[in-house]
Amino acid sequence: MTDGEALLREVEKFPFWYHKIELPHGVVTPGWAPLDPSAYGIPPSLAGRRVLDVGAWDGYWTFESLKRGAAQVVAIDDFSDYLGSLDISDRKAWKTFDFCRDALGYPISSCPRIDMSVYNLSPEKHGIFDTVFFFGTLYHLRYPLLALDKLSSVCSDEIYVESAILDDYSPYRGGLCHGLENNVVMEFYPENQYGNNNSNWWVPTLACMMEMVRAAGFDEVTGWKLSESPSQLSMCRGFVKGKKTKN
Ligand SMILES: C[S@@+](CC[C@H](N)C(=O)[O-])C[C@H]1O[C@@H](n2cnc3c(N)ncnc32)[C@H](O)[C@@H]1O
Repeated sequence: MTDGEALLREVEKFPFWYHKIELPHGVVTPGWAPLDPSAYGIPPSLAGRRVLDVGAWDGYWTFESLKRGAAQVVAIDDFSDYLGSLDISDRKAWKTFDFCRDALGYPISSCPRIDMSVYNLSPEKHGIFDTVFFFGTLYHLRYPLLALDKLSSVCSDEIYVESAILDDYSPYRGGLCHGLENNVVMEFYPENQYGNNNSNWWVPTLACMMEMVRAAGFDEVTGWKLSESPSQLSMCRGFVKGKKTKN
């Protein structure tokens, strides 16, 4: 058996992968996310930066940051998202993350991971980060503005946010092609109205998400959509980059 075949066998022992992560010997973990990594707009070099990866799951963005030269990435997750369908026993918490870290040869000190909610971040306990990645998590939160405030309290420079957005899809208004583009609003989902997932609470428009990031203390914000005319719900996503230009 080749090294690649042996590694693939180990990968296949895990019942579920969310991320597609490139491992050595041409092995790629069989998840579906991210759909289009280039759309996130993160810098080609993160040389020397301390990065926080919120909702890290299998660790795609943690390892991507290290590949781009980050000095250290702290990954956090509370494992509360089951995608509305994933069997709880199929979610192996940090085991897939640890497996990829070891396969990629990174020491624990370069990418420590903490089992915790974003709400419990503090500069005293966790230090200050140059860059925060807040991907795929905002709409899973009951208190998204509190989360952004907590993230701002531990961030000295830049935050990158990715989320479901309301611009082209609203379950209350007829689904796809029935969104609220250009309005500064969020919709609330008390049950499983959005994507059949009980852990989806709020979805903002892109304009709203930009204002939320600004309200958290990032005075320079830019936003963009994954697709201008999405053909399915998974494409109804938006990105915001927030930067602190004043100290
Ligand atoms: C849809 S996944 C996104 C994974 C990854 N960030 C990405 O974008 O590819 C959402 C992740 O956020 C985590 N999560 C949800 N609520 C959280 C919270 N309050 N604090 C930390 N992580 C949370 C979930 O357990 C899950 O791993």
